[in-house]
Amino acid sequence: MPSTMSQPVAAPLTRAAIFLVVTINDGAEHEAAVKSLCADLSALQRAVGFRDLDGRLSCIMGIGSEAWDRLFGAPRPKELHPFREIKGKHHAVSTPGDLIFHIRAMRMDLCFELAALIMSRLGPAVATADEVHGFQYFDDRDLLGFVDGTENPVDQEALDATLIGDEDPAFAGGSYVIVQKYLHDLKAWEAVPVEQQEKIVGRTKLSDVELDDSVKPSYAHNALTVIEENGQELSIVRANMPFGEIGKGEFGTYFIGYARSPSRIERMLENMFIGRPPGNYDRLLDFSRAVTGTLFFIPTAGFLDTVAPPAAAPGPTGPAPEGESSTSLPDSGTDAAAAPESAPEPAPEAPAGSLGIGSLRKDPGAE
Ligand code: HEM
Repeated sequence: MPSTMSQPVAAPLTRAAIFLVVTINDGAEHEAAVKSLCADLSALQRAVGFRDLDGRLSCIMGIGSEAWDRLFGAPRPKELHPFREIKGKHHAVSTPGDLIFHIRAMRMDLCFELAALIMSRLGPAVATADEVHGFQYFDDRDLLGFVDGTENPVDQEALDATLIGDEDPAFAGGSYVIVQKYLHDLKAWEAVPVEQQEKIVGRTKLSDVELDDSVKPSYAHNALTVIEENGQELSIVRANMPFGEIGKGEFGTYFIGYARSPSRIERMLENMFIGRPPGNYDRLLDFSRAVTGTLFFIPTAGFLDTVAPPAAAPGPTGPAPEGESSTSLPDSGTDAAAAPESAPEPAPEAPAGSLGIGSLRKDPGAE
């Protein structure tokens, strides 16, 4: 059923990813442009993805707390709130972000093309808060040299970990995501003996085997990020990617974690930044600084498909047209066909995508 089909949050790791976080500019016409994109996103993804089906292109769109209120109002997902900063031994900052696009594929050109088309559609409606192009590094290693992603749940367990169920029936099939961009001090890290690095991570470096409990410190990353409730481990699904610019001396890990409740990820972050018990913090943070931190709700794909923008984009101060509330939730999807008609033209400087051999945009002269 389209209305409950989830976005592919538990998709396996790919070779490339773009993490695009944007803020929505003030103005009803900008909110209308975003709503119009929601309904067309799956078509844009099909248009690019079909060029190489083996490229496994996927795109997940998430919506921040304030943006949800601006775009949809009530009802709202129960646990959606702005990312809460954490000040412990290290600082988990909270940074702006109204929308996230997590674009993944086996080829960066597919990710790049879709990101360009999305931004072309959004045009002046948004400003880019952060854009990171991630790449697979050998056998899914981070730039600290460790394999990252091994203990992710898979198959049904991944779905159980990420998709909202009976706890919030109106948003069942949705998910939450927290992202943080970390910059590594690689010089300092490389000065740490490998045996100590392994204790910090909790796994062996070359062979990626978990350290035995008898030698694994309680501050190990994989000790502090294992959390339980009523004796049951609470998992999340991570799709971290390395990124960097050698000339700038920038080496990083883009952390992205999906869960059916953000509290799972928040508990892990508290253990990492404050410590469990307090003071017994994650030593990875002595070498990795979080420079962003944002939380988003991930609606179902069916929800996005049926978002209905106002019938005509109102001017900056104009009211929403009668009968069309700008805060209405999508329902039956019968208005979805109106979506492309109300899209504002993209900013002139926005890339057209499609290599200049034709684009998905309407010909302005045809109107
Ligand atoms: C600098 C940023 C980070 C790096 C480089 C990093 C790296 C790693 C590595 C190498 C592993 C071991 C292999 C694996 O199971 O994936 C791991 C495990 C894990 N990490 Fe991270 N991580 C980072 C941030 C985070 C954050 C912010 C969270 C959650 C808030 C997190 C949650 C986890 C979890 C849940 C595991 C699996 C633990 C287990 O079940 O053994 N990580 N991470």
